Amino acid sequence: MSEQSIIPLWNPIRVASEIAAGPIFQHLNSAAQHELSALSDMEAKVVCALTDPKPLDIVMPVLNAVLAAQYFEIFQALNLPPNMRVYEPCVGASNPVIIAAEAHSRGAANYVTINLNKNLCEQLKPKISHLTMSIQIIEGNAQQALALLAPGSFDVACFHHAVNDILQTAVSEPRGLDTTQIDWFPTERQMIEWLAEDARNGKMDQCGKPELLQIVGDAIRLVRPGGFLIFDHFNWQKFIGVDWFPWDLFYNFIPTTRKWISENNAPVSEIRLDGADPQWWMILQRNA
Ligand SMILES: C[S@@+](CC[C@H](N)C(=O)[O-])C[C@H]1O[C@@H](n2cnc3c(N)ncnc32)[C@H](O)[C@@H]1O
Repeated sequence: MSEQSIIPLWNPIRVASEIAAGPIFQHLNSAAQHELSALSDMEAKVVCALTDPKPLDIVMPVLNAVLAAQYFEIFQALNLPPNMRVYEPCVGASNPVIIAAEAHSRGAANYVTINLNKNLCEQLKPKISHLTMSIQIIEGNAQQALALLAPGSFDVACFHHAVNDILQTAVSEPRGLDTTQIDWFPTERQMIEWLAEDARNGKMDQCGKPELLQIVGDAIRLVRPGGFLIFDHFNWQKFIGVDWFPWDLFYNFIPTTRKWISENNAPVSEIRLDGADPQWWMILQRNA
């Protein structure tokens, strides 16, 4: 594991300025800019959004912009080229990685996602239609990534809060749920309950873990030697003590993924960036 000596990530004052007027704000669409401009006490709201597990009183437009700022600062710390190619499995309707890539590259990056759920893909489009970088949304399964994309052709793969998405999908499809068509969020509790059931019964080695390791393994092949994979996961405090929610499983998604990748002897090394808590973030570099 290597430690990089750079300015610590995510100083709240700096992040507040990035999202209130700086590079993140400048690349949001006008609706998101209006929402942020109407807010007061931005630094306090940023501190709240940076807290893990995420508190109850978080302001969602701030959280989304802060997540973009977090990826933006990592892209800068890793010194990724302005014309970088970014792969993001499981984007859903979530734009932080896309906004971060646009901001870091000033519109020169090339972004590709593979995503199964159709409704969420549609909901994403208006949030990114103003951007200038090349964006390709592939409706499909990230388990097919190597059939669709060229090995070694990306600088970075971003798994933004995607570990749970992959596991939930993997346990739900065999139970007859077509996750391409569902209304995701009203169905999510059922998917999480199935995942919890499989985890309790020791079944994740047969279902969940293989799909995740295949998608991560393919992403490792998709990035060039020396390229990076970035993972984040966060938990909501509101789920503490909720009986159907498998808190420990979700709390440990990043450490568990780290362990599985390491046991799989994947050709990567972990990079630790000052400020990024390894409980919630993991940055891997593909070995040369
Ligand atoms: C709720 S969205 C989450 C978006 C984003 N990762 C976030 O957390 O903000 C989950 C998305 O992951 C997608 N997904 C899950 N497993 C997938 C897989 N194997 N291949 C492609 N997309 C997948 C789902 O179809 C859905 O669109």
